[in-house]
Amino acid sequence: MSNPTSNNTNASGDVLLSARNLSVRFGGVLAVNDVSFDVKRGEVFTLIGPNGAGKTTVFNLISRIYTPTTGSIEYFGRNQSCILTDQAPHSVAGLGIARTFQNIELFEHASVLQNLLIGRHTHKRTGFWAEAFFTTSVRQAEIESREKIEQVIDLLDLQHYRDTLVAGLPYGVRKVVELARALCTEPELLLLDEPSSGLNVEETEDMAFWIGDIQQELGITVLMVEHDMTLVSKVSDRVLAMAQGEELASGTPREVQTDPGVIEAYLGTVDDVSGLRRQASDTAAATATGAQP
Ligand SMILES: Nc1ncnc2c1ncn2[C@@H]1O[C@H](COP(=O)(O)OP(=O)(O)OP(=O)(O)O)[C@@H](O)[C@H]1O
Ligand SMILES: [Mg+2]
Repeated sequence: MSNPTSNNTNASGDVLLSARNLSVRFGGVLAVNDVSFDVKRGEVFTLIGPNGAGKTTVFNLISRIYTPTTGSIEYFGRNQSCILTDQAPHSVAGLGIARTFQNIELFEHASVLQNLLIGRHTHKRTGFWAEAFFTTSVRQAEIESREKIEQVIDLLDLQHYRDTLVAGLPYGVRKVVELARALCTEPELLLLDEPSSGLNVEETEDMAFWIGDIQQELGITVLMVEHDMTLVSKVSDRVLAMAQGEELASGTPREVQTDPGVIEAYLGTVDDVSGLRRQASDTAAATATGAQP
């Protein structure tokens, strides 16, 4: 791997990914403007912000789909540290980074199991000749792969759908299959772009539960983009709010949700919001007394 830094530690030792002064320009649009943040090992770190804030663009920088106009991302992985923004896109999965997409990306005409087997591809360590002669090491690797896939199927309750074609699955189940495929790569860092979008309340509760398991039982660090603030509050250790490509606020979910700049970005001006709150309490009081608000 090119551009490795000295080893897999950093000054504080607990940072897995460090983004510094990231900017991305698409023609006249400054999609991300001087954004910096650290993701700590073992935490759930969430990016929130209104539509067009630049959240997915940050994910695309980490997955190396885009290259920043300025700034860089450092990654302090289990096996190696590197300047992520200097790496080739195809090497990102091998570094231990997996992701799901805002719009699900699965092989529609393959079964759930086949999609998960493709997820294991990054773990293939056996060479062409070993594969051709199906040597003991190839057999062993195949057994380990199957075991890992079965663990993920059990974790996410997908037993019932193992042999079903993805094209025939309800949307909520496809979201879970995409999560399963990412987990099959045994990532150190999991990027989830809007894991609850399109899910109903019950499915979103399941998703929160699984994200908790992924963090606590599998020890995977999660970087998430999410709009559902109930889910964000439930699972996130820290949150970064963005708007129009810029950082607005960061801190605990509660600190960020009550930040006046964040409220303004979501709902209009702070005055508008307090006006709305006043109106709501006036209406409630009027209803209670039977008067016209
Ligand atoms: N490839 C691209 N070419 C041109 N403009 C782009 C490209 N990708 C993103 N943008 C623009 O960059 C801005 C940020 O987009 P991005 O998709 O990162 O927002 P987002 O925060 O993920 O929004 P949403 O919540 O709607 O998913 C938008 O104005 C978008 O139109
Ligand atoms: Mg997005």
